[in-house]
Order: sequence, then C-alpha cells, then structure tokens
Amino acid sequence: MADHGAMFTGPAEVYDRFVGRYSPRLGRAMVEAARVRPGRRALDIGCGSGALVGALADVVGVENVAGVDPSEPFVEAARARVPGASILVGSAESLPFEDGEFDSTLSQLVVNFLPDPALGLREMCRVTREGGVVAGCVWDYGGGMTMLRTFWEAAADLNPERATPEMESHTMRFATPDELAGLWRSSGLVDVEVSPLVVEASYEDFDDLWAPFPTGVGPAGAYAASLDTDAQVALRDEFARRLGDPDGRFTLSARAWCAVGRR
Ligand SMILES: C[S@@+](CC[C@H](N)C(=O)[O-])C[C@H]1O[C@@H](n2cnc3c(N)ncnc32)[C@H](O)[C@@H]1O
Repeated sequence: MADHGAMFTGPAEVYDRFVGRYSPRLGRAMVEAARVRPGRRALDIGCGSGALVGALADVVGVENVAGVDPSEPFVEAARARVPGASILVGSAESLPFEDGEFDSTLSQLVVNFLPDPALGLREMCRVTREGGVVAGCVWDYGGGMTMLRTFWEAAADLNPERATPEMESHTMRFATPDELAGLWRSSGLVDVEVSPLVVEASYEDFDDLWAPFPTGVGPAGAYAASLDTDAQVALRDEFARRLGDPDGRFTLSARAWCAVGRR
C-alpha cells in the first residue's frame, strides 16, 4: 500500500497550489456544517498548512484553537498562517491532549489517509467533551471532486493497467456518505448526519493547475511523478483535453462529504 504520510512531507506552498487551493473555502464550509460558535474550544486534526485552523480562529478566536499534523513543514506553515494558535506535531492516533478538552474536533480531508482510522476517530472522540461535536470530510473522489476525478480518468484512459488500481476513487476509504457515516457511528457518535460541501478554486490557466502534479504531492502527484517525460506530457494533454482545453482563467468545483456527529 502507498505510504500516504510521505506524500505530504514536501513544501507547504506546493500543497497550497494543489488540493490546498480548495482548503480555505472548504474550511469555512466545515466550520458552518459543524456549527462551531464563538466561545468554543476547537481542534483541527491533520491541519496541513492551516486553512481550517484559520477558519476556526475567525469564529472562536485564535487562543481557542489547536491543530495537529505529523508533517513538520506543514506545522511550520500553519503556525505562520495562524500566529497564536497552538499547533503541534502529532498524529490522530495518539493525540497530545487530555480527555474532553475540546467542544468541537474537526478533520478536513484526513480520515482517508489514516493508517488506523478507527483509532483516529476514537482519539478524536476522547478529546471532545460529552455533547461536543466531531466532524470530518473526505473528497467525493469518484464524482464531484472535478480535479482529481478528471486527472485519474485521463491517467486510466492512457494506461489502464497502471493507473486503474491507483485511482483514488478505488483506493480511498470513506469517500461515500454511507461509508463515512459508518465510521462516525461505529465510533459511538450519535445524531450523525452527512452532507455535501461544494467549493470552487480558480486557476490562471491550465499550467497553473498542472504545475504541482509532477512534484509528487498527494497520490495523484505521486503517480504523475512516477511517469517518464513523454508519458507526463501525454497525461498533461489528456487531462487538459478532458477539462475542455481551457484558454486562460477557469474555475473547477469540488465536492466533499462531511460527517457531523455528537459525542
Ligand atoms: C489532504 S491533506 C489535508 C490537509 C488539511 N487538513 C487541508 O484541508 O488542507 C492530509 C493531511 O493529513 C495529514 N496526516 C497524514 N497522516 C496523518 C495522521 N496519522 N494523523 C494526522 N494527520 C495525518 C497529512 O500530513 C496532511 O496534512
């Protein structure tokens, strides 16, 4: 199985041009879906470069927000992005917090990357007070996440044997409402609801979209980086073609499924 942790150890700026381009808007949508309110204490698991930490701080105040991520470059970027928030190097499966410290514990685009998601959810529940909220979202990889779905469809069209088994719509867990709700319910959370979060990102041109892929960021980038130059060019062209060969600025929409439950 691919080492998902290793795919997020590069510079945070590259991630921010890749999937991170959607993260600030997705973070605001998550804060809304999890009904985070002023005066609460909030935690972001797998905070990456800090987009959701920032959205939480806007509502509850920077002094009431904490974040955790195993990637040191991401933790540094998140600390720079949201000065004053408490951001630690750590993993979801072993959270460096006391029982019931938080009113709201969120994770954005993370539970599908956890080596032990059930343990990660148990830890998220442990650090949330009784009656508090635990929420998490995962891209709709096989549907509404236009960028990643189209990338993999192009890759599988050009090289079905290599790419099909690596498609994130096949490899990622919890990317459907039922599976995500199942993880939440099996962790003992109650009043579990799953809803779609739809956000957009804009690009200067197709190169602006393509540039992070060959650096190896995320599973799609790791696939692109593994190809030789000719195969990369062919994939770039097929990807662009499937997006209508955009000439200049364009936007893409992305849908994630978001589970919200009460402890
Ligand atoms: C797709 S990124 C999402 C980052 C951020 N939440 C966002 O929305 O932009 C996945 C994140 O999960 C983190 N991650 C990987 N394994 C983890 C673990 N065991 N515990 C917590 N976070 C983990 C990665 O370092 C990375 O920051």
